[in-house]
Amino acid sequence: MRIRRCAILLIEPRESAVFDFGSLLRGGDGVARRRRLVALAAHLDAEVEIDAEACRVLTALSPGEWTGAAAADVPEACLAFLLESGLVLSDAPAHATMAARDQRMRDAHWHPLAATLHAFTRWDGVEAVAHMRESGLDRAEGLRASLGPPPAADPPGDGEGVVLPWAPPTAFDALLARRTTCRNFDTARALPFDSFAQVLQRVFAAQAQVHVAEDTVFMKKNVPSGGGLHPIDCHLVLQRVEGMADGIYRYDPLRHALHPQPAPDVPVRAFLEQAMAGQHWFADAHCAAVLVPRFDRSFWKYRQHAKAYRVVLMEAGHLSQMLYLAATEAGLGAFVTGAVNDRQLERALGLDPARQGILAIGGFGWRAPRMETAEFDPAGEVWAPRGE
Ligand SMILES: Cc1cc2nc3c(=O)[nH]c(=O)nc-3n(C[C@H](O)[C@H](O)[C@H](O)COP(=O)(O)O)c2cc1C
Repeated sequence: MRIRRCAILLIEPRESAVFDFGSLLRGGDGVARRRRLVALAAHLDAEVEIDAEACRVLTALSPGEWTGAAAADVPEACLAFLLESGLVLSDAPAHATMAARDQRMRDAHWHPLAATLHAFTRWDGVEAVAHMRESGLDRAEGLRASLGPPPAADPPGDGEGVVLPWAPPTAFDALLARRTTCRNFDTARALPFDSFAQVLQRVFAAQAQVHVAEDTVFMKKNVPSGGGLHPIDCHLVLQRVEGMADGIYRYDPLRHALHPQPAPDVPVRAFLEQAMAGQHWFADAHCAAVLVPRFDRSFWKYRQHAKAYRVVLMEAGHLSQMLYLAATEAGLGAFVTGAVNDRQLERALGLDPARQGILAIGGFGWRAPRMETAEFDPAGEVWAPRGE
């Protein structure tokens, strides 16, 4: 059997602090601190606690070159643990699954820090709403009371600076003014098929195509994209869209077409609420667009590149803003959220986490007649038109 270390691995010396009543009784500060070594390997589903010996072995083994296990001088129990956890790989059939996962990370050309950040900031089964509400952090006053004032910007310079003129408003300004994150969707009204299709066309469709070769097509879209690669796919979760069965679809930007996917194992509304960490105010949206980057498409050009992951994140922001504006122009409400249970979605959408991920969910639909959940509309552009 030959072995090598996994491709992407960070070892973190971590200290955890827990309340310790015994410490208080002994006159201490009531906190017990424990230091340990944690292995963060991007191809694994979870972090792995390791001891000093495993750490020594991991730092000594090559991630590139295969070594005979006998020659590697690793104590038997330690090697068994490292193989079992997937931190060390072997060419034996028994370890083929882990070796294949590691190989997929190698093939995708991740920058190691980006891979680690991405892998260990994914959520599974998180419910983010109750905690925020209980701690009062869902309101501006509660934030100020709990956390103090937010850091202010450094003074931009002395004096008044060059004060710029406000341009006379145009139709574009009126559109921008109506862009307000929608947290109240109308559950009684279906979204017309044509409005739905138009928003998708403006946000996600290829407006033009360049065929470089049979297997190489570049797209021109309404949003910019790092390297012109447009690596972010759109998977849709629909409910109450005229002419469309409720469920999950994949969007083809080249043909402006939808492909039905296997149904979620719970009703669509419940699926969306879980996917968005309990944010029930977004779960009623008629259309939820899951932004699914194909990282390997970006990293095909930008291999192990320090900026490539950041650029993909920025692209999600462009898509999101375009979705807000396209929906607003169609008279609809829109939102984006980064509070997503991405691991759960990866499973439901059948994604390969070595190559793909979930960055955010944007959505749109009819606004409800009444505001139940707060929206940020201080000028009354959406909920109370000026003059009323
Ligand atoms: C990247 C991103 C993530 C966001 N995530 C959430 C979220 O998880 N939940 C939510 O209710 N709003 C979310 N929002 C919306 C913001 O709360 C909202 O933009 C902000 O309060 C300003 O309001 P406005 O969009 O109406 O101007 C997000 C916005 C952005 C840009």
